[in-house]
Amino acid sequence: MTELSTPTTAPEDVRRVACVGAGVIGGGWVAHFLARGYDVTAWDPAPDAEARLRRLVDAAWPALEHLGLAAGASADRLTVTATLEEAVAEAQFVQESAPEKLDLKRELLAKLDAATPAGVVVASSTSGYPMTDMQTEAVTPGRLVVGHPFNPPYLIPLVEVVGGGRTDPEAVRWAARFYEVAGKSVITMDREVPGFIANRLQEALWREALHMVANGEATVREIDLSITEGPGLRWAIMGPMLTFALAGGEGGMAHMLDHFGPSLKSPWTRLEAPELDRALYDAVVAGCAEAADGRSIADLVAERDQGVIDVLRATGRLPRAGGA
Ligand SMILES: NC(=O)c1ccc[n+]([C@@H]2O[C@H](COP(=O)([O-])OP(=O)(O)OC[C@H]3O[C@@H](n4cnc5c(N)ncnc54)[C@H](O)[C@@H]3O)[C@@H](O)[C@H]2O)c1
Repeated sequence: MTELSTPTTAPEDVRRVACVGAGVIGGGWVAHFLARGYDVTAWDPAPDAEARLRRLVDAAWPALEHLGLAAGASADRLTVTATLEEAVAEAQFVQESAPEKLDLKRELLAKLDAATPAGVVVASSTSGYPMTDMQTEAVTPGRLVVGHPFNPPYLIPLVEVVGGGRTDPEAVRWAARFYEVAGKSVITMDREVPGFIANRLQEALWREALHMVANGEATVREIDLSITEGPGLRWAIMGPMLTFALAGGEGGMAHMLDHFGPSLKSPWTRLEAPELDRALYDAVVAGCAEAADGRSIADLVAERDQGVIDVLRATGRLPRAGGA
């Protein structure tokens, strides 16, 4: 592969990161990289993007201070640029977090590829598009990888890293190492699976939840409670596999499979996506407003952030304070 053969900064030596697209996820990445001590440039075409981004960073900062900032970390090390080209001109890593539309991603990744210095890896935050489908227009597709985060990227450690058919495996290795240095937990996938790992699982749960609302089988509040007061508590400690192994008692997973395996065929799940018609849309939106119980989105963000920090602390998984 030729794309990465020009000198590439070692993951440990990266100091300057560019974030392109600065909404919920791009803004969350900006906050994360700033807290880890990087210089960050950001670009987003929305007229109110800079104000929105700075509000997001300001709102996240107390949580990040609480967690422990890297030496020299400062929100003042953010520069919002007027053009995409300026944002990436001196970047040593680029994180793309634009809207989840395939044509837009294709075109944007090609533009980023053209504007980013040679040998620099460009990662997409896509929630599920395979890189093979997004890298079609790029001149040097070898440097393009998926780096799929979870909201908010400044608190949830996981990033799923995977390349496309034309990605240089070295770019995948480089990105995985860079995210680790930047304080993330990384799963490197050796093949493209639609939805990667975690979103494939989340999607199954989400479809079932929408079916239950559509059919009047459960309210939005009941669905949320069923997880936060139930399996969700265990999932922060152990994933669904080890959790179920314990459901088998002393016999572990083998007993669990003997006992409950046959019920896998019981007709519990629907799994085909429900029709997202107006009635379902309205029921889910109204249900969320009711479940929020007067709390604003900003209130809920603060509550979630504190809760995630408490869980990370309680389980000994606070992110490392290292970074740039
Ligand atoms: N929201 C989540 O929980 C979540 C989680 C993981 C990954 N993602 C992925 O992250 C990406 C961004 O999602 P989001 O939730 O932050 O969306 P968002 O709508 O909050 O933000 C998208 C931002 O992109 C900007 N934008 C529009 N056109 C652009 C362009 N041509 N170039 C650059 N920026 C552009 C918008 O102005 C907006 O600020 C998507 O690929 C999404 O699938 C989202």
